[in-house]
Amino acid sequence: MSSFKLPEKGTDASELLQRMESFKGKDINWPSGKFFGYVFYAGEDIYNVAKSAYTSFMSTNGLNPSAFPSLRKMESEVVGMTAHLLHGDENVTGTMTSGGTESIMMSVLSAREWALKNKKLYGTPEVLAPASAHPAFAKACHFFGLKYVEAQIGEDFRVDVSEMSQLVNPNTILLVASAPQYPQGVIDPVEEVASLALKNNILCHVDCCVGGYLLPFLEMGGVFLPKFDFRVEGVTSISADTHKYGYAAKGASVILYKNKALRKGQFYIKTDWTGGIYGSPSFAGTRPGGAIAAAWAVLNYIGAERYTKMQLNAFHTTRKLMEGVKAIDGLSVLGNPDATLFAIASEKYDVHSIADEMSELGWYINRQQLPPSLHIFVTDIHVGKEKIFLDDLNIAVKKASKFSWENFKKNVQVNAVIGLKKMLPTSYFNQILDTAGKSGGADSGHRKAAMYGMMGALNGTDKLEELVEDFIDQLNSPEQESPKGKK
Ligand SMILES: Cc1ncc(COP(=O)(O)O)c(C=O)c1O
Repeated sequence: MSSFKLPEKGTDASELLQRMESFKGKDINWPSGKFFGYVFYAGEDIYNVAKSAYTSFMSTNGLNPSAFPSLRKMESEVVGMTAHLLHGDENVTGTMTSGGTESIMMSVLSAREWALKNKKLYGTPEVLAPASAHPAFAKACHFFGLKYVEAQIGEDFRVDVSEMSQLVNPNTILLVASAPQYPQGVIDPVEEVASLALKNNILCHVDCCVGGYLLPFLEMGGVFLPKFDFRVEGVTSISADTHKYGYAAKGASVILYKNKALRKGQFYIKTDWTGGIYGSPSFAGTRPGGAIAAAWAVLNYIGAERYTKMQLNAFHTTRKLMEGVKAIDGLSVLGNPDATLFAIASEKYDVHSIADEMSELGWYINRQQLPPSLHIFVTDIHVGKEKIFLDDLNIAVKKASKFSWENFKKNVQVNAVIGLKKMLPTSYFNQILDTAGKSGGADSGHRKAAMYGMMGALNGTDKLEELVEDFIDQLNSPEQESPKGKK
């Protein structure tokens, strides 16, 4: 039985709020700006607009637009503004969703429905994406019973279109490109991917979850970029997240389609339910009105001129950071990132240990693999923090390059964990996962290179999947006390 029980009587609201503030103690200290990813914050004024709009509509439900014409108006305007930014014509249409993953899932679902109606298939329909594409595409295939096929990326980290063209077959229904992709921040050759899709009479989705509210403003500010949106013939859908570079509240993204017929593929309708005729435009049933309202308010509050300034600032900060990284002996930047995301690698040092040292200095940095690197996701909050980041990075590199018992212990731990998984009772093993998972995070006194070393060592084996499964299971359960008396 769960150890949590609903209190018999309610608790005073101010006491609850105080307690909740204290829960934040171990979270990423995002107002400090010493983190990358997860939170998009561009100042108190924008935050307050989002907050007021969200709370004003937080009880409304976007499932049925006839009950809330206010949400219908705001959603269609957000979709319309996004289509305009991404150069859609008057036929382009879409919906708002809860985030990038849901938008991507909708694009895959609608491709499946399109293919079932319009294409002769000889087996399971296939989605063909770059190996760098966000896991949401693989997740969508897993959910919708499709085959997920990956095309390798080239040395520049962009998808290898000649390999992609060899992988296209009569069951391929959808090609994917990202603008930009997450791991190294480069834009895939969208024109070539879309032209391959056109040649094969199939669909092409561009993942602009990151780029949708970033790249158009960089272009407006004079940055030259390869074409990535509906200007490219053959692009049939685009995802763009307002809760990323749009700086809206969490839970808001837009999925756009070339036409209404494609959008219909994501609708679900059941006409014979005793509760009435049920129709839902996307994955969710109830759709939180607060997220729609906050997106509408923030887009209108910021406007194109300020977005252009903000995104250009982030772009220039990224250039300074990349130059600073390259100037540190032993560090490099992977590929030629096009916008505001990049990855730091090293042939000389263990980058995950550098991240550990950065976390000792209060930074939260995501670790990547294949190849090992650190992910930097520059947003408005980082503008002006170039020096402090680079100074800290220099310190971290120096510390990580020295022999230390900490690093030695880390390597021992990696090997021990691999062997111990089989031998230890679950409670002990969970303790190890818990330690690895907590470390290096917001809780900055800890280290997590060990976990990534462990993941690297297990890569390509079934054990890794099993381990991550255990890990997710544990992260989604209440924190456990150590098993008492068993050391
Ligand atoms: C390129 C790209 N696509 C899709 C997503 C998924 O977005 P979300 O986390 O909102 O589901 C992300 C998230 O970082 C991303 O970077």
